[in-house]
Formats: sequence, C-alpha cells, structure tokens
Amino acid sequence: MLIKSTPSWQMPEREATPEHVFLNRRKFMGALAAGATALIGGNAFAAKEADPTADLYPAPRNKNYVLDRPVTKELDAAAYNNFYEFGSHKRIAMEAGALKLRPWTVSFEGMVEKERQVDIDTLIRAMPMEERLYRMRCVEAWSMAVPWSGFAMAELVKYAKPLSSAKYVVMQTFLNAKMASGQKQVWYPWPYTEGLTMAEATNELAFMVTGIYGKPLPKQFGAPLRLAVPWKYGFKSIKSIVRFKFTDKRPVTFWEQIQAAEYGFWANVNPEVRHARWSQATERVLGTNRRVPTLPYNGYGEQVASIYDGMKGEILFR
Ligand code: MTE
Repeated sequence: MLIKSTPSWQMPEREATPEHVFLNRRKFMGALAAGATALIGGNAFAAKEADPTADLYPAPRNKNYVLDRPVTKELDAAAYNNFYEFGSHKRIAMEAGALKLRPWTVSFEGMVEKERQVDIDTLIRAMPMEERLYRMRCVEAWSMAVPWSGFAMAELVKYAKPLSSAKYVVMQTFLNAKMASGQKQVWYPWPYTEGLTMAEATNELAFMVTGIYGKPLPKQFGAPLRLAVPWKYGFKSIKSIVRFKFTDKRPVTFWEQIQAAEYGFWANVNPEVRHARWSQATERVLGTNRRVPTLPYNGYGEQVASIYDGMKGEILFR
C-alpha cells in the first residue's frame, strides 16, 4: 500500500472542513469570484487561453435528461472541487490554473483495431455535442446538479473501434508533477486511473464532458475532457483524461489502490450501504445548508440497474 496519510476527502465533510469555513463560504466565494473576474476579465473561472472549440457552446440541450432539483449556482460548483493533482482541498480553482490545456492529445490503446492518438480539438469536433442536466453525488455526501456539455461516451467508444474481446475501458489523467504539484505527493498512485465495463461505458448515461454552464470546461472541473457517470460516486468521474485503454482485465483504480476496503471498482450510489466511516443515506446540496435523501443509483436506476443483474458476488455499492 502506497498510502502514508489519509486524504481529507475520505472524511465526512463536517470533520474535514471547520464550521467557520462553511459559514464564511458565501463571503469567500464572493471574494474569489471578484478576484477571478478582475483577473480574467468577466468570465469567472474561465481559462486565460482562448479555447479553440469555444464556438461549439452552448451545445443544444438534450431534453431527455431532467432534474428533480434546481441547478447548482455556477459559483458554488466552481469554487468547490476535488482535483488532487493540484492539492487535497476544495478551493482548487486557483491552483488548477496551472493546468496547460493545449496542445492536448488523447490516445486510444490496447484492444482496439488500431492504436492511435488524436488531438483534443479534432476529437471534440468529430463528436455530436449536446448539453445534459445531471446530478452528481460525491462519496463524501455532498451533491450538485449541473448542465454538462459534451457527448455520449458510446460515441467515443465507437470512434475508438475496440475489439469485441475488450471487456473494460481504462482511463487515465495526465502525469506531470512539474505542472501539477499534487503529483509530487509520491504516496498517491499517479496517474489517476479509472475504469468502466464496456456495458457501463456504452450505457446512454455515460457522458464525456467538455463544457459546463454553456461554456468550455474551466480547469478545476477537469478540462479539457472528463467523464460523468452520474449513477456512481463522483470519484469515478475522472478528470483531464489523456488515455483510453481497452482491455480484458479489470483495472485497479486510483482510490482502490489507496483504500480498497472503502473505494471499490463499482462504486454505485446506494443510500443503504454505509461508507466505512459515515452514512450515505443523505447528501448536502452544494450551495445550501439542506440535506436531502440520497437515491439508489443516484436516481438513475431505471437506466442502469439492469447492467448489474446477476452480479450478486460483486461489491457493487462502494
Ligand atoms: N479526477 C482526477 N484526475 N483527480 C481527482 O482528484 N477527484 C474525483 C473526481 N475526478 C478527481 C477526479 C472526485 S473525488 C470527485 S467528487 C469529482 O472528481 C469532483 O468533481 P468536481 O470537482 O467537478 O465536482
């Protein structure tokens, strides 16, 4: 085991974050937003570099995806992120400013007809862009609801041309400790690695994200390309992806390598299955002081529950 210390996000938030910080959050965000606006001229949290695909936003809304709650305010979502490559706290937007977004190459490797690399802008322009309203439930028991822009992961799988023998798709984040100071913390098993079965990756809900709130993705959300799998805990939704590898072997994911007893491969949301150290029955809605009941599969059971039929021996909910 590579771990030397317990990451802060493995604690319930009320333990990880002193109460006065919560109470001062509005003030903090106001200051942060004002700072960011002053710094970069009006578009809070946007990258300073021009995005070569900016003309694709806002993407047309796919009306099949509706919310049962209000959309989280942009400043609330943008000022509260997990991105360990840049540090283990939530106010990571400024540190994530060091992420260099272009040139950015994505590779398709392993069990594919032909391994290849593609420039991110070529990839994005080859995909049918849309906007979807999704909930996200973090394993730390907070949640948000946001308009992601991007394309169905099934389209990316089609583009990659995997062999029929491929059973999993493994995704990895960039590795560059000079740019991302969190990667100097050698007890973490960098690069961040995640994986899905082919059935999960081609489920209609699995979404590749390139934008949010009708704009290209700000860096702290995992620009220029991240995953959104809303029926799973947020740590499955890997950020800033550079590699898709198709394989017939189940990968051991980033948090699984660190703490397999608490963070497994499947990580499907289930209010009845406790985390080892806290209840998953309710969640704090980001930007409010409200707690609401957590739903099985985060409310997406109709679309995904059947994937797991017959997998009785698997630990599906952690
Ligand atoms: N991806 C990478 N590469 N690095 C990370 O630290 N954190 C994960 C996930 N993807 C993480 C990551 C966790 S724990 C969560 S809850 C979500 O990103 C947070 O996404 P958000 O910051 O957009 O809310």
